[in-house]
Amino acid sequence: MKVYTKISDLRTDLFKEKAAGKTIGFVPTMGYLHEGHASLMDQARKENDVVVLSIFVNPLQFGPKEDFASYPRDFERDKQVAVNHGVDYIFHPAAEEMYPTKPSVIAVVKDRTDVLCGTSRPGHFDGVATVLTKLFNIVLPNRVYFGLKDAQQVAVVDGLVNDYNFPIEIVPVPTVREEDGLAKSSRNVNLLPEERKQAPAIYQALKIAERAIDTGEKDPDSLVKIVESHINENTDGIVDYIEIYSYPELKVIEQVNGKIIIAVAVRFSKVRLIDNLIIQL
Ligand code: PAJ
Repeated sequence: MKVYTKISDLRTDLFKEKAAGKTIGFVPTMGYLHEGHASLMDQARKENDVVVLSIFVNPLQFGPKEDFASYPRDFERDKQVAVNHGVDYIFHPAAEEMYPTKPSVIAVVKDRTDVLCGTSRPGHFDGVATVLTKLFNIVLPNRVYFGLKDAQQVAVVDGLVNDYNFPIEIVPVPTVREEDGLAKSSRNVNLLPEERKQAPAIYQALKIAERAIDTGEKDPDSLVKIVESHINENTDGIVDYIEIYSYPELKVIEQVNGKIIIAVAVRFSKVRLIDNLIIQL
């Protein structure tokens, strides 16, 4: 496995792989790797000749009051995880390599961002779309792997790839969870011990809503209330949003029908956690 910090060095070697007819699977991350990231690497390993992993905490996608500085980082450990999961190339650039000057062009996401994290994190998806545009142009992958834990990100990237005509296949990967149901996240380490005990209530609340749907509840407002009361009763977290939309369009629905997403964000003292269930009816 090779580690690259310079765009030009990575490009030189990837061009050789492409010239030899190899397919490239790409897993973009911000590091502090866990089993969620690992499942993306595993799937990329199965489906491609070459696997590229990027580790870059992208300043452009963090708001001024968000956790850019406290976002966990551990490159040495990440390298080991990458080796264990068959990664061939790690791209680990410094911020100055990716943004040597203030960007003169950024991608502005126009659709699928007026809901969920798009509302509470203004500019976040523009930062994601901008860094991914750069990374796609640097890596030129055949396939790129994203976790459904960030389902809105998958929907936004789907728009980006279509609108900018990237010849890339997006591969969505199911959410990997802790044994108690908490969605794995690099941010979980910043939960206080008491909050860590409470956090599985988020997924429990989503499952309770799913059962309510199975037994005939089709009204989005009632389902939101079910999720909200379970989270409020079982955590000290503050609900940022609980919303139900069609997926991947992220449009308001009158009645639960077709493919839908129930998505939640909860603020704890130092971290904000997100989770969702995508349900096909
Ligand atoms: P990051 O939060 O590091 O996540 C990298 C990828 O891992 C994303 O596609 C995310 O959905 C996936 N992932 C995270 N937790 C997961 C879990 N529990 N199960 C399955 N997949 C999981 O998302 C980003 O980084 C950034 O926005 C990025 C796309 C790299 C752009 O900067």
